[in-house]
Amino acid sequence: MQNIEHFRPTKAIINLDAIKNNVSNLKKHLHPGVQIMAVVKANAYGHGDVEVASAAIESGATMLAVATPEEAIRLRKSFPDIDILILGYAPGAFAPFAANENITLTVYSTDWVQQVEALSFSKPLKLHIKIDTGMGRIGVTQIEDLQKLYNMITSSEKFLVDGVFTHFATADEEEETYFHHQVAKFEEFIRSLPEKPRLVHAANTATMLIKDPTLQYDAVRFGISMYGLAPSAYVNTKLPFPIEPAFSLETELIEVKKVQAGQSIGYGAAFTASEPSYIGTIPIGYADGLIRKYSGQHVLIDGIRVPIIGRICMDQCMLLLPAAYNIGKKVTLIGKQKDEEITIDEWAEKGDTINYEVPCIITSRVPRIYYKK
Ligand SMILES: Cc1ncc(COP(=O)(O)O)c(C=O)c1O
Repeated sequence: MQNIEHFRPTKAIINLDAIKNNVSNLKKHLHPGVQIMAVVKANAYGHGDVEVASAAIESGATMLAVATPEEAIRLRKSFPDIDILILGYAPGAFAPFAANENITLTVYSTDWVQQVEALSFSKPLKLHIKIDTGMGRIGVTQIEDLQKLYNMITSSEKFLVDGVFTHFATADEEEETYFHHQVAKFEEFIRSLPEKPRLVHAANTATMLIKDPTLQYDAVRFGISMYGLAPSAYVNTKLPFPIEPAFSLETELIEVKKVQAGQSIGYGAAFTASEPSYIGTIPIGYADGLIRKYSGQHVLIDGIRVPIIGRICMDQCMLLLPAAYNIGKKVTLIGKQKDEEITIDEWAEKGDTINYEVPCIITSRVPRIYYKK
């Protein structure tokens, strides 16, 4: 029997071969022994965490990075042996569970360590210390705080300092000063440690692709490039090798009607036909992540660009068709048809946002269908 989620024609197609090629190409630029941490937080940027993680591991990733305890737990079920690092906050109460499941946590607060020290552990808890060198998000900002934290962790048998890392705020921009300031601060902090932990890491995609491809330390954290997207328009103009987008979004026409000049379409009657027109309806709306701001964005039918008109509804939206297409006609929202392509970057521009956000907000109502040769 067909899986019930797949009755609706709206689906995201995830090209796992593209993910594998992107990781393999990135790997070619790494020094020997440098580990690839595949950043698969937020359901692998909306692409599907387990499947993307498998593809990345097959192509050379040796670690997984996520943002939350729940994401780590989900992945641990499918990957019993691989190192998993939670890059963000994990409540102290999660620490014994993390230790038991060999999930590595990020630490930046002595209060947190004190609270966790009081709990009982079946195994030592692996920790990566986060240094805030200029992102202003999480991490220690003073050398004395780093040393205090380090000493507190290393003096307890409950903990193991496995790594130390930072995150760059401007690696995807042309301006260099801020980036170099962060690197200098990071290195000063690392030098202040009595012993270098196993894994020092800092580079994200933009650092590796353009900013300083040699700044690899012991591991690099690849997110957006693995999915075939550039971290910014600036990086896109400087890519050292092509990357292949992995995410397409498709549906079908479910209704086609002819309207007369003057007839209006959708909530608020926001679109009015200026001449006799064919209007098509597609079953995707803001509850699928097609936010109302995307009204006016083009989609593809038969390789022709067709605009979304009127207000996007919760579950559907309407298109101004160039011809009376049949119901069931394929509509590509993201991806290629014939010689035309509509990219995630184009949607991001329409939504006044960045490409990272576009697949992330395609909701779980849209099934991810995995493609590989
Ligand atoms: C701490 C951290 N490291 C690495 C990454 C991956 O960055 P990118 O997707 O630009 O490669 C992210 C993404 O947001 C992050 O928050």
